[in-house]
Amino acid sequence: MIEKKEYSQRREKIYNTIEDNSVVILYAGCAPKKSADENYEFIVNRNFYYLTGISQENSIFLAYKQDGIVNEFLFILENDENIEKWVGRRITIEEARETSGINNVLSLNSFHSELDLILTKKKTGLEDLKTLYLDLEPQNLLDDFKTTKDVGEALVLNYPWLTLKDIYRTIILKRMVKSPAEVAEIQEAINKTNMGLKNILKKIRPGLYEYQLSSLFYYTIQDYDHSELSFPTICASGANATTLHYPFANDVIKDDELVLFDLGSQNNKYCGDISRTYPASGKFTDKQKEIYSIVLNCNKEIIKAIKPGVTLKELNTLATKILAEGLLNLGIIENETEIKKYYFHSIGHHLGLDTHDPSDNTLPLVPGNVITDEPGLYIKELGIGIRIEDDILVTEDGSYNLSNGIIKEVNDIEKALKFR
Ligand code: GLY
Ligand code: MN
Ligand code: MN
Repeated sequence: MIEKKEYSQRREKIYNTIEDNSVVILYAGCAPKKSADENYEFIVNRNFYYLTGISQENSIFLAYKQDGIVNEFLFILENDENIEKWVGRRITIEEARETSGINNVLSLNSFHSELDLILTKKKTGLEDLKTLYLDLEPQNLLDDFKTTKDVGEALVLNYPWLTLKDIYRTIILKRMVKSPAEVAEIQEAINKTNMGLKNILKKIRPGLYEYQLSSLFYYTIQDYDHSELSFPTICASGANATTLHYPFANDVIKDDELVLFDLGSQNNKYCGDISRTYPASGKFTDKQKEIYSIVLNCNKEIIKAIKPGVTLKELNTLATKILAEGLLNLGIIENETEIKKYYFHSIGHHLGLDTHDPSDNTLPLVPGNVITDEPGLYIKELGIGIRIEDDILVTEDGSYNLSNGIIKEVNDIEKALKFR
């Protein structure tokens, strides 16, 4: 669990970067409409959550800074016995305080009047606030029609002395560096992912449908502690695995096919993201083993290369070179540039509250970054798609593989498959 002190520390770091005479507003968001009276699942805005620990729909965080002093507020839906009879309980003001460390927790109904008091001199008794910071990330929909940009522009019309600024980058730069408590959350997400993979290793065999294994993964993490998926599970057999994000999982697994799994469990909203590739029959064919070994070697070389100072782009250049050398040796390609046909994504991404955690990938890695290392080869004409993905913490002197407990050596996989 992330302690409320850590949420306060995260906010403090943001306050140190914002201008004096400014106000920050962040929205939890709400679930988009699906059909008739149904909505999609509510996914809390991760920047809002990162700074508050609150995941209840429609909550709003507000902080203003004047003469270096910050006042912070949280607005939440009021408790309402009748509504809660239908949709379940809402958090109380006391619970919101206890989670976030924000003392001023008010009813959402008072948001607009409080905001008006704050944006004019009425509340502060000081000069008017000059800068309005919102998270202006374009996908940031507040409801089916309004973006945060729309809200910001409307506020600037009403309070024309305000200048609208984007706080998205400031927050995501902080999110890129994980605290020890965040690393522990990701580690637990990976441990749960491993439980699901172990169950898959017990069950996988030719004749099953792909969905029987993707649903087994979901069942395992739900049965364990009601965990959610980091992203829709990819279970792709044979040539299906040459589609990177194969979404169907409706094919029968055939003899001698490899099955690629790309999956992850969340833990308190922190994501695991692991790929493993297993032979359905229990043994790799010689050709599969040759190609698997190239990907595995690349995966390991990249782990060795991960350290403070390198960029994801440099790691990808190295990965591309290693994969190309492997396929040149096997005679599958004749010159290095042909590798583009068989490896066409990049080596990895930051991982955290989002699977593809927002980041600036031009920045050199620093201790506390958590990234994926996920080389792959996708050779449609051989019906072979292989990806091996680990989750790696950047440390002071190199890296630590958070998923080193998840087997990936040919011998270990074949041994595990013997005990089905
Ligand atoms: N699961 C998506 C990815 O590995 O990036
Ligand atoms: Mn993945
Ligand atoms: Mn990934």
